[in-house]
Amino acid sequence: MNIIITGASKGFGKSLARKFASNGHNVYICSRSAAQLYKTLEELVTEFSEVTIKAMPCDISDKESVKEFADWIAAQKIDVDVLINNAGYFIPGSVYNEPEGVLEEMLAVNLLGAYNLTRKLLPAMMARKSGHIFNMCSIASLQAYANGGAYSISKFAMLGFSKNLREEMKPHNIKVTAVMPGAAYTDSWSGSDVDPKRIMESEDVANMIFAASQLSPTAVVEDIILRPQLGDL
Ligand SMILES: NC(=O)c1ccc[n+]([C@@H]2O[C@H](COP(=O)([O-])OP(=O)(O)OC[C@H]3O[C@@H](n4cnc5c(N)ncnc54)[C@H](OP(=O)(O)O)[C@@H]3O)[C@@H](O)[C@H]2O)c1
Repeated sequence: MNIIITGASKGFGKSLARKFASNGHNVYICSRSAAQLYKTLEELVTEFSEVTIKAMPCDISDKESVKEFADWIAAQKIDVDVLINNAGYFIPGSVYNEPEGVLEEMLAVNLLGAYNLTRKLLPAMMARKSGHIFNMCSIASLQAYANGGAYSISKFAMLGFSKNLREEMKPHNIKVTAVMPGAAYTDSWSGSDVDPKRIMESEDVANMIFAASQLSPTAVVEDIILRPQLGDL
C-alpha cells in the first residue's frame, strides 16, 4: 500500500511512518521544517530499505503549499491507499484572552490543511473506489477543558469534518476514521514536566491506526478513542 502522512518528521506521524514501513508499505511524508523532515527521511530509509519512502516539505496551513504537495504526490504515479491527516499543533489558551489570530492559526493547521489536502487527493481515490482516510482529532474534539481555547475548537471542527466525510464517502467505498487520542508522549510534550509514564506512548496511537487499516473491505473503524490508562491529565 501507499501511505501519505502529514506532519511526519516527529511525533505520531513519525511513529506511523515507522509502523507502516516496517510492515512493507511505501510512505510519503511532509512537514514544514525541511531539515528535520530530511533527517527523519534518512533515518527511515536506512532502517527500511525494502520500501519506498519519500518526503517533501509542505506547510499544510498554506493552500499553495498543499497544492504543491498534492502535485508532487500525483507525480509519483501511485495510488493513494491511506491518507493520514496528522499535522497539527497545540497553542494553549482561553477564548476570553488568547491573542488575536490564534483561532485562525489553529483552524488553518488543524482543520483547513486536512480539508484542502483531502479535497486534492479524493478525486483519484473516488475514481478507483478505494482508500482509507484517517483524521487526527483529539480527546479535545469530544470534551472541552480548561486552557483548550482555539485548539479545542479546531479539533471539534476536525471531528465534524471527519464525520461529514464518513457519510459522504460510504457510497464511494472510501473508509474514514476519526482518531481521538488523549495525551501521548511526543515532541510536543518534551518541554513539559509531565512524566512520560503517566501518558500514552506515540507508538500506541500508531499501532491502533495501523490495526484499523488492516480490516476486510467490508468493515471500517469509525472512531478510535485512546486514553492514558490513568485517564486524562
Ligand atoms: N501528542 C498528544 O498528546 C496528542 C493528543 C491528541 C491529538 N494530538 C494531535 O496529533 C497530531 C500530531 O501531534 P504530535 O504530538 O505528534 O506533535 P509533534 O510531535 O509536535 O509533531 C507534529 C508534526 O507535525 C508537523 N507540523 C506542524 N505544523 C505543520 C504544518 N503547518 N504543516 C505541516 N506539518 C506540520 C511538525 O513538523 P514541523 O513543525 O516542521 O512542521 C511535526 O512533524 C496533531 O494534530 C495533534 O494535535 C496529539
